[in-house]
Amino acid sequence: MVFCNTMHLDQKVSLKPFHTFGMEAEARYFVEAKTHSEVLTLLNYRHMIHMPILFLGGGSNVIFTGDFSGIVIRINSKGIVIREENENQVLVTAEAGETWDEFVQYCVSRGWAGLENLSLIPGTVGAAPIQNIGAYGVEVKDVIESVQVVEINSGKQKRFTTEECQFGYRDSIFKRDLKGKVIILNVTFRLDKISELQGNRVTGLQGNRVTGLQGNRVTGLQGNRVTGLQGDRAAESQSESVTGLSLLKLDYGDIRPELEYLGVSVPTISDVREAVCNIRRRKLPDPAEIGNAGSFFKNPLICHEHFISLQDRFPAIPFYPLAPDNDYLAEKASRPAAHTISEGAVKTAYAKIPAAWLIEQCGWKGYRTGDAGVHPNQPLVLVNYGNATGLQIVGLANQIMDSVYRKFGITLEMEVNVIS
Ligand code: FAD
Ligand code: EPU
Repeated sequence: MVFCNTMHLDQKVSLKPFHTFGMEAEARYFVEAKTHSEVLTLLNYRHMIHMPILFLGGGSNVIFTGDFSGIVIRINSKGIVIREENENQVLVTAEAGETWDEFVQYCVSRGWAGLENLSLIPGTVGAAPIQNIGAYGVEVKDVIESVQVVEINSGKQKRFTTEECQFGYRDSIFKRDLKGKVIILNVTFRLDKISELQGNRVTGLQGNRVTGLQGNRVTGLQGNRVTGLQGDRAAESQSESVTGLSLLKLDYGDIRPELEYLGVSVPTISDVREAVCNIRRRKLPDPAEIGNAGSFFKNPLICHEHFISLQDRFPAIPFYPLAPDNDYLAEKASRPAAHTISEGAVKTAYAKIPAAWLIEQCGWKGYRTGDAGVHPNQPLVLVNYGNATGLQIVGLANQIMDSVYRKFGITLEMEVNVIS
């Protein structure tokens, strides 16, 4: 059915191609908004529709536990615009429907630094601020200047500053208070320009697609590493004009060994992107081959007291120490709903524990029941081997959460958005 001249409203649409977990689920109605103004037009119709509404980007952080008896609006608006630039920095706005990794590639190829560690994360630009996507020592909040939203009920537009976004670890105001209340229309990033040599040395990276995540080899799993959560961008940017090298975040996990393997001694942002892509392809299952939504759970934050008691019982427990100035982590750790700090008065988060380790210690790594499973190399990733239902995956997630709680007194929190 044609809707508003350009948009097609389809009925009874299978959502299987529109999310990475790959389970069968049907939307009562489905429509794709290909421009910013189509999104706004659809909002005008919302008052007439009177049914549940779901905005979907790339579907890489959702799981459906049944059919969706409302209207699914897929946001596919495109466009990248430079707002401002000077010698050192560029302010660039990308529309919500831009594919995240294509946008990263666009920036890296122009020598704009800041996003390279976030290479190959599936999904769209519009969803990136929602859970403050993060990887390899960088969170997207580090480079977001502002987020433009429209309120679903009033149709009013508003630009949120980074402070107003209330970013946290895999968290923001859009995932909490404003969940389902606003649509993200576009995101503006402040990126550092680095010298041509630093930014653009050709490394054969072109053409990386999000679906290219492959391979099951896990390498170099290390515990007890500071993860780069405490990046001091301001201090670093003072020296940016010298080489740009100091801007690079190379200390997380396998980045340096991978650069060494690539034979790179003075890395460019393209090299960092290539290293991150290589590591991710080895570690994470490709959703095109095995359905998944990345990490199913967040890594839990625990207080000092809890950590010490766990370290007594499990001396090998890996952890990421948290910087004392990580206010948002400390604040989050004091909120019982968001995190299970065990009994005991806790005011600050002391450490982040890899949930993968907790899950493996409970014996779940590689577990499979029917087509629902725990990935054999990365137990934080729950997988659909073919015909698992959302309820089966969520049932498995609940069993895992129970056993982790019983063994460690830690309640895991789901990262994935469960749509019922
Ligand atoms: P969707 O799954 O479509 O939507 C997610 C949520 O946001 C839903 O609630 C949806 O309603 C809402 N939403 C989407 N777009 C909008 C909008 N424009 N306005 C309002 N609400 C909206 N995440 C990380 O942080 N780091 C990683 O390293 C990482 N690795 C991953 C690896 C794999 C293999 C996979 C499958 C996922 C991974 N993820 C990772 C999770 C996921 O890629 C991110 O959360 C991503 O930002 C989701 O984008 P999306 O467009 O697919 O969102
Ligand atoms: N580990 C095990 N057993 C395993 C695998 C890992 O014990 O089989 C332990 C090891 O101690 C290892 C640690 O888990 O050092 C961390 O593993 P990894 O470096 O693979 O990272 P992660 O904590 O599992 C997080 C993010 C990922 C992000 C990577 C890289 C969360 C919930 N997940 O994973 O994000 O890509 O770090 O930065 O924070 C996502 O959010 O969907 C996601 C994939």
